[in-house]
Amino acid sequence: MTNATFLTQNNEQAEWWRSAVIYQIYPRSFADGNGDGIGDLPGITEKLDSLATLGIDAIWFSPFFKSPQKDAGYDISDYRQIDPIFGTNEDFDVLLAKAKSLGIRIIVDIVPNHTSDQHAWFQAALAAAPGSIERGYYHFKDGKGANGELPPNNWQSIFGGPAWSRITEADGSLGQWYLHLFDSSQPDLNWENPAIADEFDEILRFWLKKGVDGFRVDVAHGMVKRAGLPDATIYDENLRERSISNLTMDEAELAVPYWGQPGVHDAIRRFRRVIDEFDDRAMCAEASMSPLPRLAMWVRPDEYHQSFNFDYMHSAYEPAAIKKIVTDSIVEYGKVGASSTWVLSNHDGIRHATRLGIAPENTPRPGDGIHPTDPMPDEALGLRRARAATSFMLGLPGSSYLYQGEELGLPEAWQLEGKYRQDPTYARTNGERIGRDGCRVPLPWVADATASNGFNTTGESWLPQPANYRVFARNLQEGVAGSTLELYKRLLKERRQFGLGSGQFRWADEYQDKNTLAYINNGVLVLTNFGPEAVVVPAGEILVTTQHDLSIEGELEHDQTVWIKL
Ligand code: GLC
Repeated sequence: MTNATFLTQNNEQAEWWRSAVIYQIYPRSFADGNGDGIGDLPGITEKLDSLATLGIDAIWFSPFFKSPQKDAGYDISDYRQIDPIFGTNEDFDVLLAKAKSLGIRIIVDIVPNHTSDQHAWFQAALAAAPGSIERGYYHFKDGKGANGELPPNNWQSIFGGPAWSRITEADGSLGQWYLHLFDSSQPDLNWENPAIADEFDEILRFWLKKGVDGFRVDVAHGMVKRAGLPDATIYDENLRERSISNLTMDEAELAVPYWGQPGVHDAIRRFRRVIDEFDDRAMCAEASMSPLPRLAMWVRPDEYHQSFNFDYMHSAYEPAAIKKIVTDSIVEYGKVGASSTWVLSNHDGIRHATRLGIAPENTPRPGDGIHPTDPMPDEALGLRRARAATSFMLGLPGSSYLYQGEELGLPEAWQLEGKYRQDPTYARTNGERIGRDGCRVPLPWVADATASNGFNTTGESWLPQPANYRVFARNLQEGVAGSTLELYKRLLKERRQFGLGSGQFRWADEYQDKNTLAYINNGVLVLTNFGPEAVVVPAGEILVTTQHDLSIEGELEHDQTVWIKL
């Protein structure tokens, strides 16, 4: 690629999602209005101004629907009701109205792959006979073996253990098995059954009519299973197709008969038709698919608008690797008319302020947290790299996702004792896999205001904050030059000012060596030094930098980023 090559990004179009900065709220841990230790919608509404000040465009809410909370709300028992722990449907209306008045869009999380076992559909299926219409909503099968005592196939749950559980029939006899790719409390829906698509059309319309701007679609790559539910030939509960990315598409579909099956695309198109009944709405797929050309198939013009870019999130912190993923993302998404997304943290992975302080060979696999027996992360290095990596990301064209707390530089709460851990992965693997609780701990708002640092007024907290959260409290960073919070605000302000989300992007090889990455977007040079030697800062006007006291033609140290107006 020559210096002058601009990469087409398809985000010059006005649609908001092509360039939006979308902030993920994990409702139980953002802000707690009623002081019970679990975050809620009134708590969030009260804090919306602080997000407007941060400069985001939209919020994606992890699920707040009625749920037994076996998987922190990803087990839904009523798709049209707010769970009482988070408030009421009226609380949501208030939140939505306030967000709109602040110019912030709202995306809700829809979970179509599975329901809670407490959902009325599953309860009806349990009560009905094998072969009934009610059982047809899920994957109920007879077991193998002389007495049906073996699961119908060899699939494993993503959270550990078998992906099948056997039920007791209404007459008390041992009966059929049902499929759950996640916890046994999360039975998979049967998308071959047209009734399911009809149900979801109406669920989507319910929220669209309320005025939400779109959906994040959970486990979008798993909704449709291969006909006949054949055995998997590759094992890796958490593979999410990354480890099989060198197989052909046909081989991959056969090897893992529950991810990325062709039938998924029909389900997506159906969603898209509903979305298109309304103006200006968008959907983002949680589709953990690799490689990028395969993932790009999910964002063709009549499918999703966006898809998370997990290859970017899981990339090695290394210039050549990042350059390749960025180029491939822009090119491959571009081929199908989509813009790229970028993300470094979410509620399923180790916070990047900690993850980037772990040596590559010690980094737990995606979805696993840091185990007490793992080598300790280098938190100072992690934070420094996180600030550099975020500053690199937010200058890229396309849409970026932020996870609550990263604007504070919040580290992973990896010290959590076992007794507090709630992720089903922890219980299902007897603690062998520590799970994702460490990235889900409530946010510190005001240092020392309460034991929960102002998460609420009572100090209660469903997961306790570690002692080091105090120093990351928002009030200690507000207005403080050099703080991570002020860095984020400045990045988002300049990004908006220079239209970087929909900018003209090219790699700036003329400013790059083997330890640095440089690109130019709408006349702004973004330079990141991945170290170890300091590099000279090119001439121009410094717009924003992670390095305190940086000057033009001074030296950019290791793991620092600067934005320069050329
Ligand atoms: C997605 C969610 C994760 C959840 C799982 C099952 O991967 O992001 O938090 O546990 O789906 O719904």
